[in-house]
Amino acid sequence: MTTTTFDFDDMLAKIKDRQWALADIDWDEPGAETISPELHAKLKPFMADLMWIENVGARGFAAMAKKAPTETLKDIYRHFHAEEQKHANAELALMKRWGMLDGDKIPEPNINVKLVIDFLDKYADGMSMSFLGTVIPMLEVALDGALIKFITDEVPDPVAQDVFRKINSDESRHLATDYAVMDLLGHARIRKLAIDLVGGWLNPTLMIGIFSYVPLLNKMRDNIVEMGVDEEKLYGAMRKYKNVGERSAFARRLPMYQIVKYHGSMVINRNHPYHLLADALVKLTAHIPERLLGAQPTWSKELTYEPAA
Ligand SMILES: [Fe+2]
Ligand SMILES: [Fe+2]
Repeated sequence: MTTTTFDFDDMLAKIKDRQWALADIDWDEPGAETISPELHAKLKPFMADLMWIENVGARGFAAMAKKAPTETLKDIYRHFHAEEQKHANAELALMKRWGMLDGDKIPEPNINVKLVIDFLDKYADGMSMSFLGTVIPMLEVALDGALIKFITDEVPDPVAQDVFRKINSDESRHLATDYAVMDLLGHARIRKLAIDLVGGWLNPTLMIGIFSYVPLLNKMRDNIVEMGVDEEKLYGAMRKYKNVGERSAFARRLPMYQIVKYHGSMVINRNHPYHLLADALVKLTAHIPERLLGAQPTWSKELTYEPAA
């Protein structure tokens, strides 16, 4: 079996070296006027969702930090957790710059993002490393790391371009690490992988997770189409997840990887009957009454557009 050698210490050093802060950016620099009223209208809900998806990533990495098998990896995930929060705050600062915020109120995400946040908040800490380590890379490749790339060409503001570049560079390290961890997890004995898989699926909360995740992908696809971006870009990003297994025989051994990959192949096939279900779930979830959802998690209070470190 072939395996890639990945130096996690080296990655941690690189992460520390490439830190940036909201204070590094001049948020009042000219260029905000390049956002036309039409773009402004489309961008506003998109940015609100994007900002909350960063928090989905942050919550996932917080859970990973607890599960990680080595001190280096724990430290890497703690940095990624903070970086996702920084991405959220930077996006909030862009929204403020573009006059999209209503006073000091944090914008609300769409219902599907809310459901996933609610799910992760309740259950992420109870999930196994091999489960989190195979699901989070898909979220990153399709949503967290990808959405900004999709809109980069649509947003002419130079300050946004600068912010997007910084975020993209963080995301490249998230992805490289995500993939290396999948390879690492795939080294476990088949017996252990099987136990993790069965244990994961016996957990009834997993179904809640699936019913949150399925409509989220389709909802975000609708949103990027709304922004004028070709949905093929999303599918192209999702195909990258499949490529990981083509490169690493160990990642391929992970049962959850096979499941997430199979699910991805249905998502990127627009003619697959899967979309009847997923689109129906988007419509259905849109009717969930507000009162049934939990209050916004306490950690979301940390969100701020203030240019503190
Ligand atoms: Fe991010
Ligand atoms: Fe990320």
